[in-house]
Amino acid sequence: MDHIPCPPSNSGPQPPARSDAQAPAGTEVAANTGNTQGNAGGKLQVTSHNQYKTPRLLRENLDPSPLKQFQQWLGEAMDPPPAVAEAGETGQTIKLEAVHEPEAMTICTALPSAIPSARIVLLKQVDTLGFVFYTNYLSRKSRELEANAYASLAFYWREQSRSVRVVGRAEKVTRAESEEYFAGRPRGSQIGAWASRQSEEVEGERQLEEWVEEVEARYKGKEVPCPPHWGGWRIIPLVDDQAIVAMRKGFFREAV
Ligand SMILES: Cc1cc2nc3c(=O)[nH]c(=O)nc-3n(C[C@H](O)[C@H](O)[C@H](O)COP(=O)(O)O)c2cc1C
Repeated sequence: MDHIPCPPSNSGPQPPARSDAQAPAGTEVAANTGNTQGNAGGKLQVTSHNQYKTPRLLRENLDPSPLKQFQQWLGEAMDPPPAVAEAGETGQTIKLEAVHEPEAMTICTALPSAIPSARIVLLKQVDTLGFVFYTNYLSRKSRELEANAYASLAFYWREQSRSVRVVGRAEKVTRAESEEYFAGRPRGSQIGAWASRQSEEVEGERQLEEWVEEVEARYKGKEVPCPPHWGGWRIIPLVDDQAIVAMRKGFFREAV
């Protein structure tokens, strides 16, 4: 059998080399260690090759509304239908497994200097406007969204080999929405929202415990109000810009 060569690297424009001087204050710059091959313990290669079995992703099967399509997929991730018929000629039937924590999503934000940062949050609502999650408004992600409202979300539903990317603009949800959501959270999470200093360094676990004790004492026998520095963000997809992209391993397609 003929050997298939590795495709050539992209010879198109490359991003400018970044010097440490360009990094904004407060941003850590990792040292460039170069090729780690040969360094003691410096290389860990992943050589597994999974076979992914998913329904084919065909435009004619997609809802014209990307948000509705997303809601259908999220529904299938939470509560899979008994079987999904494979589209096209194969006639196969595919069983989708339930996804563990399908609401977990990566949100990538970026400073105006374009340096990105990503982390996991939990989707709490998807509505006709967009994707809502809750957080601390003083956190790094919130500070970045205040400075540059564009963000990207990525969902990976491993059990169904599906992933979805959303690109959108972030807006704070109304205070009433945040308060309503906060009121329904378990008391421990409400205390945690007052006690945690998200994105800040903490001097040991004892300090965290002290902050929690302080908040517990303050609200003993009372309802815990929603902290002013806590609330929701809604990521509103840029639908004009083909901003919800559905991916199946090896293929991708715009869902708009
Ligand atoms: C499964 C999982 C779910 C999380 N959900 C949230 C969330 O809904 N809101 C949140 O603020 N942080 C959540 N976190 C913590 C964030 O990943 C992150 O550590 C924290 O928000 C600070 O991020 P930042 O410093 O980049 O702002 C979650 C972490 C994990 C592992």
